[in-house]
Amino acid sequence: MKLLTEILSDLFMDAFAACGYEASLGTVVASARPELCQFQCNGALAGAKQYKKSPMQIANEVLQEVKGQDRFKAVEIAAPGFLNITLTDDFLMQYVEEVYADRHLGVPQATTPKTIVLDYGNPNVAKPLHVGHLRSAVIGEALKRIASAVGHHTIGDVHLGDWGLPMGLVLAELEERYGNELPTLTTELLNEIYPFASKKSKENAEFLEKARSMTALLQKGDDTCRATWKKMIALSVADIRATFDRLGATFDYWYGESNSSPYVPELLEILKSKELLTESEGAQVVEVAMEGDKNPLPPTIILKSNGSEGYATTDVATVLQRQKDFAPDAIWYVVDFRQNLHFTQVFRTARRAGLVPESTALTHLCFGTVNGTDGKPFKTRDGGVMQLSELLNAVVERAYEKLRLPEGTAEAEKQKTAEAIGIAAIKFGDLINHYSKDCIFDLEKFMASEGKTGVYLLYVIARIHSILKKSEKIPTHLCHVYTESERELLLRLALSGGAFLAAYREKSPNLLCENAYQLAVAFSRFYHENHILSEENEEKRATRLALCVITKAILQKQLDALGIPTVESM
Ligand code: ARG
Repeated sequence: MKLLTEILSDLFMDAFAACGYEASLGTVVASARPELCQFQCNGALAGAKQYKKSPMQIANEVLQEVKGQDRFKAVEIAAPGFLNITLTDDFLMQYVEEVYADRHLGVPQATTPKTIVLDYGNPNVAKPLHVGHLRSAVIGEALKRIASAVGHHTIGDVHLGDWGLPMGLVLAELEERYGNELPTLTTELLNEIYPFASKKSKENAEFLEKARSMTALLQKGDDTCRATWKKMIALSVADIRATFDRLGATFDYWYGESNSSPYVPELLEILKSKELLTESEGAQVVEVAMEGDKNPLPPTIILKSNGSEGYATTDVATVLQRQKDFAPDAIWYVVDFRQNLHFTQVFRTARRAGLVPESTALTHLCFGTVNGTDGKPFKTRDGGVMQLSELLNAVVERAYEKLRLPEGTAEAEKQKTAEAIGIAAIKFGDLINHYSKDCIFDLEKFMASEGKTGVYLLYVIARIHSILKKSEKIPTHLCHVYTESERELLLRLALSGGAFLAAYREKSPNLLCENAYQLAVAFSRFYHENHILSEENEEKRATRLALCVITKAILQKQLDALGIPTVESM
């Protein structure tokens, strides 16, 4: 279905064209000054220079063209030439009713759907999930759902870190400790062994060398290494899945870096045939520096001197794998900004080798770090790295304390509600700001019942739910607009589809968060200023209940596209 701004743009474009101006000047946008009007068209200003006329004159001509159309309550000119547009209530109501009847609730669907692979989550085997993985999972999941909501085909791949030196470190340490008598692996053991081995490798060159050879052995397919490694993965993945499930992060593929290995021989063939592979200190590399680079860009290492594959190898080979399996139009990597250089190397290598068509976008959506309220990277109380599950538990505990569920609610229900509120608080708290910024983890702020928080949004949905539960009828027809706050709410409902599209185009879930918040604010005002259930006039009550029904559906859809859970009461 068409966006309201598109419908209006079409009308104004025709009007500009009828007056002899370029049609594109007629683009209409939602008003930046809602107290003045609902929509605005600034084309007269843009056209003034081109047509050597005053903006007022152009605006006047266009105004004469559109005047008298029954959709407009008012079209006014504001100096120096803005066209301010206000719609009739009937037109607005009719549009919102169409939105509610639409299968996609007014979210426009792509006419040529793209295939988009999203690489996010990105945990590492044998290492605990930490707050950085939280951001990747939260942002990536939202981007994926938003792209799906506007009709694209999305493929989520968790891209486990399961192929590099960390694997060799753990294998080497296991071997030093237990020789061939491997004990039953446990998550506790894995969590302890990696930091230990990593520290050891920094102090002990011999051990580091051993870990490197173990990595090479694993990659060459050594049976013993493979068997232990497989156990490690199974254990880690079960743990990671449990946490990602809690976060509502769902993946189509649980591939790892290791899944790219079968593609390496073909990658080498391609690189050789294009004469891109050169030798540097025993390693096989691809030069990727380009004229105009601000900083010198080191070559991409494809094979290390001991023959093992590195981090860049796995990513370049994965581009080849994704091209073969999915032929995507775009690959989005949701990874923190510290990996900027890495992705520049990977993308340039993939481009030089022609692994994907020119038209396939390779994009690194780089996010900032998670900081505490002191602005420093987020740590546990004793200064350690905060594990993701600990953090989730802390938030859910806080949500539990704040519950105001009716007396006698079952314990399991309380737990479930607290879990949803806690997760919503964290996710909204992260997504409300643009991902490129650092995320300040401020539990009290995230959990506040007022303001731009997930908790506030959940309250609004729960409130609507409780109103509707008490109503005998669930009307969906809008009869008449009686108050300003009803009108404001209608307008917010009408703008939802545009927010989805903007969030997709800008790859910015924060735009959808902002719209959801504005909708919730408009609903709160409507709720405080109007009688709903206690309204005696039948038509008024029906219209207001219908506004509740539609608001709930749209808010729910928006939060769902952000991957944020909701509750019916809290
Ligand atoms: N596993 C890596 C880490 O935790 C991030 C992987 C990012 N994705 C990728 N395709 N390289 O640092």
